[in-house]
Amino acid sequence: MTVAAQPLVDEFEYTPEVAERMAPVFERVKDHITAEEWPVIAPYVDEIIRLKKEKNAVILAHNYQTRDIFHCVSDIVGDSLALAIKAKEVEADVMVVCGVHFMAETAKLLNPSKKVLIPDPEAGCSLAESITAADVRQLRKDNPGVPICTYVNTSADVKSEVDICCTSANAKKIVESLGSDKVLLIPDQFLAANVAKTTDVEILTWAGQCEVHELYKKEDIQQIRKDHPECVVLAHPECPPEVLDEADFSGSTTGMADYVKEKKPELVALITECSMSDNIRADCPDSEFIMSCTMCPHMKKITLEKIVNCLRDLSNEVFVDEDIAKPARASIEAMIAAS
Ligand code: 13P
Ligand code: SF4
Repeated sequence: MTVAAQPLVDEFEYTPEVAERMAPVFERVKDHITAEEWPVIAPYVDEIIRLKKEKNAVILAHNYQTRDIFHCVSDIVGDSLALAIKAKEVEADVMVVCGVHFMAETAKLLNPSKKVLIPDPEAGCSLAESITAADVRQLRKDNPGVPICTYVNTSADVKSEVDICCTSANAKKIVESLGSDKVLLIPDQFLAANVAKTTDVEILTWAGQCEVHELYKKEDIQQIRKDHPECVVLAHPECPPEVLDEADFSGSTTGMADYVKEKKPELVALITECSMSDNIRADCPDSEFIMSCTMCPHMKKITLEKIVNCLRDLSNEVFVDEDIAKPARASIEAMIAAS
């Protein structure tokens, strides 16, 4: 279970009024949140629902958010690609992005007239931190004529220097859409190595990696197979290639969720961040999950309490300088057009 502990403050008590107002919400989420958890969560959910109305705000949440955020307060959920595409269509005045910083920046780039807030601006990403715009300029100099595709898990500065972006849902397609024999796919060396195995395009990369997915070893999957030969194993493409070699399927977070919903395996292991299994298990009653506990510390910086605070004060707004925003936006728009 990965619901973040919420310190209860006086003004957020589970009063009879809160219980009554929130009863329909509990009815909707009771397969995801236990009756023991609800009195702690409900006062925050109540306040967030009130604030969303008052501020004309919507909440976008990544698949790695905790169950309380994912099921109780979010309006739009998905993988990085889905959140980017849906962020473009938001009509509300305010978007609260429950995810990591590059996701909030992407939402701002794609819908610049909206106020975009992130409940904790310190929610980073080891991939985004692995490369700077100056590094990309140097790569361009060292590899003249080679198109550069960046994984969306990068800063707007980095996106402003590249030709196109990709996500884990479309990396192969985007690389091949460039019509070049050689492509720089940065900064995730494992995503790049995994794509390289599936295409004739020569892939050059960068030494970045996800601090969560790099922890998985092929022996982890071999052990699962030994203990549970019937288990279907799905792995995220940020895992090392030898891990993907052992898996039955590889896909983005939404790709994995769709696989389980469609194929209904009796037993499944999701080789990715641990909230994924938490979030989809209630919608997949035919499947049992082998849980991992590999948590992204950045995603887990987002809590219900921080959502209340940022909505109440409209604080932690995300800004991108227009000099950077214009080319960065073009690289994301190019990806959306090509996917
Ligand atoms: P997805 O695009 O598959 O949701 O992945 C984002 C991410 O950060 C995975 O670690
Ligand atoms: Fe970044 Fe890895 Fe966390 Fe995804 S799971 S946000 S890639 S550190």
